[in-house]
Amino acid sequence: MRRKLICGNWKMNGSLAANAVLLAGIKAGLSQSSCEVAVCAPAVYLAQCQAALTGSALGWGAQDVSIHASGAYTGEISVSMLQDFACKYVILGHSERRAYHGETDAQVALKMLRVIQAGLTPIVCVGETLAERESGQTQAVVGAQMDVLLAALDAADLAKLVVAYEPVWAIGTGKTATPEMAQEVHAILRAKLAQKNAKLAPVVRILYGGSMKPDNAQELLAMPDIDGGLIGGAALNPADFLAIVHSA
Ligand code: 13P
Repeated sequence: MRRKLICGNWKMNGSLAANAVLLAGIKAGLSQSSCEVAVCAPAVYLAQCQAALTGSALGWGAQDVSIHASGAYTGEISVSMLQDFACKYVILGHSERRAYHGETDAQVALKMLRVIQAGLTPIVCVGETLAERESGQTQAVVGAQMDVLLAALDAADLAKLVVAYEPVWAIGTGKTATPEMAQEVHAILRAKLAQKNAKLAPVVRILYGGSMKPDNAQELLAMPDIDGGLIGGAALNPADFLAIVHSA
């Protein structure tokens, strides 16, 4: 059985003061939760997450990592630096990084390998734009994104991967994929995973992301191939985030 994972993606939000309130609020509400819960914070706040969350049921991680191990890469952060702060997760290939930083599928695949080699869990994002959906290309687009990732991966490592389906048109827009629309894509992604390793595909978690909120989380999370959520806006409010956690 797949254990559901609810992960907050704080994006470029927060402050020491606001994070302290948010983390304390989430931690306080977590006790009876049986699903896995984490927050991915801006890198400068990972030390704060480590200090606040060590020993708690709430995990933490980063929103990106460098392809390189170390060296003259100004502004970059390596996976060993994330390990110094006991990160468990790294979001990779978010559509905002693809759009604003020109990240390619090949780069995302290399980052995924670094993260897996370091023993952390990559949460790799795929998803189509509105124009791609409206022109009937959803399956081809997410399929091609997955193909590059899976070609780079050892079949035996498949279970170390978490995939996030994030339709670009649903991110931060308040427009959510219907549960049926999301399930259809999740099933396509699961079939791709099964082509790589039929035995391990059933254990890989596929998260949905894109305007997941307390009022739509339950029906999305009830779909057979939706194994959790990657939460943006609603992850910045402890009550909303906890409501999603409790739906899972
Ligand atoms: P929203 O939940 O704000 O739509 O963001 C989703 C997202 O991009 C999570 O990575």
